[in-house]
Amino acid sequence: MKRSLRLTTLVITAGLIMASCEGPMGPAGEEGAKGDKGDKGDPGTTLACTDCHNSTSPMAAFSQQWSTSTHALGGNAAYANRAGCVQCHTSQGFLEYVAEGSVANISIPSNPMQINCSTCHKIHQTYSSADWTLTKPGAQTLDVKYANADVIWNKGASNQCAFCHQMRPVSPAPVAGGADFAITSSRIGPHHGPNTNLILGKSPFELSGTTYPTTNPHSTADGCLTCHMSTPYGYTAGGHNMGVWYDSHGTEMMLKTGCATCHTNATTLDTKIADLTADVEDKMARLEAQLVAAGVYNPTTALAKTGTFKANAVLAYLNYNTVKEDRSNGIHNPGYISTLLENSIAAMVALGYADPGK
Ligand code: HEC
Ligand code: HEC
Ligand code: HEC
Ligand code: HEC
Ligand code: HEC
Ligand code: HEC
Repeated sequence: MKRSLRLTTLVITAGLIMASCEGPMGPAGEEGAKGDKGDKGDPGTTLACTDCHNSTSPMAAFSQQWSTSTHALGGNAAYANRAGCVQCHTSQGFLEYVAEGSVANISIPSNPMQINCSTCHKIHQTYSSADWTLTKPGAQTLDVKYANADVIWNKGASNQCAFCHQMRPVSPAPVAGGADFAITSSRIGPHHGPNTNLILGKSPFELSGTTYPTTNPHSTADGCLTCHMSTPYGYTAGGHNMGVWYDSHGTEMMLKTGCATCHTNATTLDTKIADLTADVEDKMARLEAQLVAAGVYNPTTALAKTGTFKANAVLAYLNYNTVKEDRSNGIHNPGYISTLLENSIAAMVALGYADPGK
């Protein structure tokens, strides 16, 4: 129904424009066929085009923030426009997944689009305030289980983020202390966004040792939004840019508007960040040296080496790779990420690879 009405409007508008240069307007077309009823959903408040499309609505600023983001500019919608990737990397793939509820039959779009307003919001569906509704609300069951149980991400409006920013399954996967394991692909690993799994402290590659913390001060009710969509810095961080780093006159700055609600002392916070970053970088460097010595990791390609290795060495590599791909330097779950690395280093020592930090 809405669709045919819109088409009629467009046809009439086009007619009017043509009319000005090409003679009198023809008779009005006949009414379009009735469309199907569709979901009831939130009726929202009907809006005029100009309620949204004006230069002072929040939308105008959000569009600018988005336009400089990695969602807009990352470029990987083109590179990853194939089966197994489209559902996270193209707007069309994600929306087709949402409509079909499965990734089994997703088509490969010929004009792949980066993640944009319509990927996340129901833009131009009802021309009402309900157009801002998220396209995939509701809890997200993550693809990778933990201790044989489902892992569920249920953190408000960040549930939308979780479908894409989660670990890819590694299958088959090594079992801690189990049989030697053959790495057959140098790209073995959980892929680029294992953020949700780490924030929940439920990564499948844990090695035993120091007890893993079960709470995370940074696992907030709004999830990702707390830090990544907090009060923005212009167009270059926070808000709808969603990044946390911005350039301030040549200096890279971390956006801390989301942190400030809990960390009220800015100087103390800076010290904490510096300490945690140093701790994680130090552990990553030590673990990397052990993995290179064991022949599991190739520092030149920054990928795994194929071959057969002790199961725990492969798990230690997978932990190294997960933390590297998370790219939060520990912030997403300070205690857990630090413990993951510590136990991986200890496991490598147990296999005979000395800890260069000791
Ligand atoms: C609820 C807010 C809202 C309403 C109401 C709305 N739009 Fe939009 N419109 C958007 C958003 C969001 C975009 C995407 C903007 C972007 O990519 O920066 C958009 C994009 C567009 C575009 C660019 C092409 C496209 O589809 O991306 C056109 C043209 C457009 N709108 C016309 C209209 C017209 C005409 C109306 C009234 C019939 C209307 N809009 C009503 C929010 C709205
Ligand atoms: C449809 C999948 C999808 C959804 C939903 C999604 N993202 Fe992303 N996100 C991506 C992809 C893919 C990239 C990388 C884009 C590229 O490289 O082309 C990315 C990039 C990012 C980056 C930038 C990383 C960098 O290197 O600069 C941040 C931060 C981010 N997303 C946060 C979020 C947050 C927060 C949400 C929820 C509000 C979210 N994303 C929702 C798929 C998604
Ligand atoms: C479950 C969702 C998901 C799937 C499936 C997925 N990706 Fe990604 N990918 C992401 C997210 C999220 C990011 C952004 C992570 C970040 O910036 O930290 C990303 C980032 C990337 C990047 C940029 C990495 C970099 O270092 O700049 C490339 C390249 C990429 N993906 C390729 C692929 C390819 C190829 C496939 C299919 C074989 C694929 N992705 C499947 C979610 C996914
Ligand atoms: C990666 C997902 C994502 C993308 C892309 C995205 N948004 Fe959003 N947007 C969100 C989330 C999450 C919220 C917060 C919703 C909440 O708190 O309920 C939000 C909130 C909003 C709101 C406030 C809605 C309200 O109910 O008041 C507007 C307006 C908005 N976005 C516009 C846009 C526009 C315009 C674009 C494109 C330029 C865009 N968004 C792109 C995820 C996204
Ligand atoms: C407690 C605040 C906080 C929360 C909550 C949080 N992040 Fe982050 N995230 C950060 C910080 C800070 C960094 C940068 C750390 C660094 O580079 O040292 C970061 C880094 C990232 C990166 C790497 C690219 C970049 O922008 O530096 C991605 C992608 C990302 N986060 C996605 C997410 C997603 C998705 C969620 C929710 C599942 C999330 N984050 C939740 C604070 C947070
Ligand atoms: C919801 C509240 C909350 C938010 C938001 C928050 N933090 Fe925290 N953070 C805590 C608590 C609680 C602790 C543990 C006590 C402490 O060290 O202050 C903590 C600890 C830390 C630590 C020390 C971790 C360790 O174990 O070494 C760092 C670093 C940190 N936060 C950085 C950040 C940054 C950066 C942001 C924003 C991007 C942020 N936090 C946002 C509550 C929060």
